[in-house]
Amino acid sequence: MSASRPPTLSGPAVRTMADLPGPTPRPVLGNLRDVVRDGVPNRVLERWADTHGLTYRIRLVRRHILVTADPAVIDLTLRRRPDDFRRSAVMSNVIEEIAPQGVFTAEGDRWRRLRKVATQSLNVAYLRQYFTTITRVTDRLLGVWEAAADSGARVDVLDQMMRYTLDVTAGLAMGHDLNALQSTGEGLHSRVPRLFPEFARRIYAPVPYWRYVKLPRDRRLDATVREIEAVVRDRFAAARDRMATGASPANFLEALVKPIADEPAVTDEEVFGNVLTMLLAGEDTTSSAAAWSLHFLAQHPEIHRRVRAEADEVLGDRRLPADPATVGRLRYAEAVVHEALRLQPVTPQLVMQPTRDLTVDTRDGPLFVPKDTLMYVLLSYGARRDSDRFPDPDTFRPERWLDGGLPAESLPFAPFGNGPRFCPGRNLALVETTVVASVLSRAFDFEPDRTAGPVGERMTFTSFPTNLGLRVHRRTD
Ligand code: HEM
Repeated sequence: MSASRPPTLSGPAVRTMADLPGPTPRPVLGNLRDVVRDGVPNRVLERWADTHGLTYRIRLVRRHILVTADPAVIDLTLRRRPDDFRRSAVMSNVIEEIAPQGVFTAEGDRWRRLRKVATQSLNVAYLRQYFTTITRVTDRLLGVWEAAADSGARVDVLDQMMRYTLDVTAGLAMGHDLNALQSTGEGLHSRVPRLFPEFARRIYAPVPYWRYVKLPRDRRLDATVREIEAVVRDRFAAARDRMATGASPANFLEALVKPIADEPAVTDEEVFGNVLTMLLAGEDTTSSAAAWSLHFLAQHPEIHRRVRAEADEVLGDRRLPADPATVGRLRYAEAVVHEALRLQPVTPQLVMQPTRDLTVDTRDGPLFVPKDTLMYVLLSYGARRDSDRFPDPDTFRPERWLDGGLPAESLPFAPFGNGPRFCPGRNLALVETTVVASVLSRAFDFEPDRTAGPVGERMTFTSFPTNLGLRVHRRTD
């Protein structure tokens, strides 16, 4: 990749966006209707890569977008941050209106500083302290599912996983026990999961009308953010008091409040933005990954039995893993999660922009990409299409991740991103999902429930399953 370079007569011809293939745009809306019609824009973009090649262009109303599934371009785009590429400004502006100053949307030096603080508070050392939260909430989840088994009630798997991850994330982010798993009616537990779809709606909106006039749904969004803000402010005061005593941080908020040597203190607004970022980034993604894992287990009884046998052996008499090292021994359950993320990636694409004019080497030759061009980076396309690396790619086969098989991730499989902005919650997410897959498989038999219709997929900001219901039965073997 090189800096701005106009096409020359010598060397390979440098293509421009206008030279790229792509689906024919319709008048006014361009390709927008085709992209959003079935609620799975990621799948539409992947199919177009099959037809038009790994790098192509689309138009959404007036925005011309470069779409790429080319591993070399993806690699460069992800690695050359924050200097040469940034997250899409449209997306970041929409999120910043709600969660300003968070690490996900920060750029440049502010991102460098916030990233350091955020990763430090999520690193493995802290994860050890967080482990009690995970086991406490998992125990609660087991209790709720035992009640469902005894009453014969249908389990809405995604809803359950959202409540589970919300309880874990609120505990880890700020030491708050939301108890979404046992809550009924309306509350933060029902409102937080609606934030992501609202982000997506605003990102794709042709006009940012909410800056001028608020619809009822915009007012509900504001009210939810104020509600979360009140909880964070309350916890913030307690965190400050505790850190002033010299105690070591027990949650993300406390870690933010405790100054890092040689780093300027994090401002109050940055604390709020980052706690909210953790709540959002940790809840929707992880719940979807856990839900898809349970879906595949329900579909494959032989794999379910193997997860159960592993849990029996590793956990012995204990209902829950005693420590992170024990979770590390649940290797087959973790392989189930990797395989679920491969077939049903939760974040199948990232939206980026170059910060300057660049020439990028694509598989089909050099391509000139002007500063600020919107780029849809398809993170998981190769995981379904690269049959050299993933033989029989449409088959759910966790064994491929074990015993000298595949390394956990590397392009073309990057479910947690790559490079310096790689997901800092990856380890936490894998612990949560592995524990859930293991202990639920151990305790229950799963019977798919299709009363709400066939299981489907939808993508708003992240991708998630629809109509995913189970009847669960206490194990009999
Ligand atoms: C299965 C679950 C998860 C998936 C699939 C996932 C995926 C991702 C992806 C693809 C990115 C963008 C990476 C990039 O730009 O290269 C990201 C960023 C991020 N994730 Fe996750 N994530 C998950 C769970 C979590 C959890 C549990 C947390 C924290 C509690 C978290 C916090 C973040 C943050 C703060 C960022 C922004 C990092 C930055 O911009 O420097 N994620 N995640």
